[in-house]
Amino acid sequence: RRIVAVVPAAGVGSRMQADKPKQYLQIQGKTILEHSLNVLLTHPANIEQIILAVAPNDPYLKDFSFLNHPTICVIHGGKTRADSVLNGLKHIQPDKNTWVLVHDAARPCLTHTDIDKLFAIQDPNGAILATPAIDTIKRATENQQIQQTEDRNHIWLAQTPQFFPLDLLRDALQTALQQGLAVTDEASAMELAGFQPHLVSGRTDNIKVTRPQDLALAAFYLSQQNN
Ligand code: CTP
Ligand code: MG
Repeated sequence: RRIVAVVPAAGVGSRMQADKPKQYLQIQGKTILEHSLNVLLTHPANIEQIILAVAPNDPYLKDFSFLNHPTICVIHGGKTRADSVLNGLKHIQPDKNTWVLVHDAARPCLTHTDIDKLFAIQDPNGAILATPAIDTIKRATENQQIQQTEDRNHIWLAQTPQFFPLDLLRDALQTALQQGLAVTDEASAMELAGFQPHLVSGRTDNIKVTRPQDLALAAFYLSQQNN
């Protein structure tokens, strides 16, 4: 099969409260975006192309070291993460044998081993990295009282990458967005289309850098990696 990656990087990073979108903040001398792309670019499976979705008129991209990389194709993202990913998918030549690996620009601590685990799954519904819930999970009422405790054994926290056949994912995202449904990851669009993607046990280190304190955490996790 042919593998193409889509990296949504068109967000503003409001929860980070920094002076620029979080994917352009530096950790250990490289931007978060560069860390995330580097893991994909150096993976031995030869990801054929990386579609990078950025905000229209993104002023930070021009100094970006990977701009002229032959594997990277920069396109415009959309209003939500799902719009950005769908725009990316529309730039890929449709082909029955193509699978897409979608990975958040804001997850710089991904490793090749994580990607290998996803690629090893032979499930036509696709697969996502996720971790089992550690804390006890409470469902809340409108006024923040406990309605009930969920069975933690069946709760997983979704990460990226998420890996799907291109044609199925494009149709699923398009339908979900047309119906105005909130899809915060690719798997949720696939679920709405009737598929049951596989959960692949990932690492809790693969954080989505979201809040200011996540920068130090990501720096620590990156410093612990040996590749
Ligand atoms: N993203 C995107 N297009 C959007 C919104 C988000 O490509 N319209 C990307 C972000 O750049 C990020 C990933 O989707 O790499 C995950 O989103 P999130 O962590 O929510 O990033 P932001 O939306 O930028 O942050 P916040 O929600 O705090 O504003
Ligand atoms: Mg967001």
